[in-house]
Amino acid sequence: MMIYKTKNYTEMSRKAANLISAQVILKPDCVLGLATGSSPIGTYEQLIDGYQKGDLDFSKVTSVNLDEYLGLGPEHDQSYRYFMNTHLFDHINIDKSRTFVPDGLAQDVEGACKEYDALIEQVGGIDLQLLGLGRNGHIGFNEPAEDFARGTHCVDLTASTIDANKRFFASEADVPRQAVTMGIGTIMRAKKIVVVVSGADKAEALRGTICGPITPKLPASILQLHPDVTIVADEAALSQL
Ligand code: GLP
Repeated sequence: MMIYKTKNYTEMSRKAANLISAQVILKPDCVLGLATGSSPIGTYEQLIDGYQKGDLDFSKVTSVNLDEYLGLGPEHDQSYRYFMNTHLFDHINIDKSRTFVPDGLAQDVEGACKEYDALIEQVGGIDLQLLGLGRNGHIGFNEPAEDFARGTHCVDLTASTIDANKRFFASEADVPRQAVTMGIGTIMRAKKIVVVVSGADKAEALRGTICGPITPKLPASILQLHPDVTIVADEAALSQL
């Protein structure tokens, strides 16, 4: 596990964007696993900047996103498809037909989860997976649990996650109670993983991620077993180490 300590969110975003840029430059037809949330927004801004300056070309890139709320369609402004379009895809030259986000409106959720895993395999697996970290140590929407989930699956969101994400909705009651997420197995199969973490409210979860016991009660702790993980975190997030 490689850990970069940065002064603040801006520096964290620049460093993470550099790692992703290197991936896109070295392998222009790579598969990027992408994340939502406030943590990667600055990283995406840097990538857009790199594209606008002519340094980055996303025309051959494929992307697969980690997760999506159940019940929200692509036009809903809190859906993760909408987030990805507005924060990244609409501003770079990626082919939108090669950007994938789990379908929040799938009728047959279980079937759609299987199809999503098959799709990831079909495109050749994930070269670089970008992750944020939940306050409770979740990655994607893999909440603390008794077991590590393998593939893409449907989850009930915990009270902590609903509380953390209510800031994006009109009220807590509007936050979806379920989501579809890549499993821990899917994430762990990515060739390279980059985790962006910012702020003191993540410090405890980050300490557990890096040096706590490996347990599904803190899902991100499994990353200790991955051969190529880079954590890019600011001083506040690393304050408990
Ligand atoms: C959300 C997302 C995660 C994200 C995490 C942290 O619920 N499902 O993919 O990494 O929580 O979010 P944020 O970066 O806004 O703190």
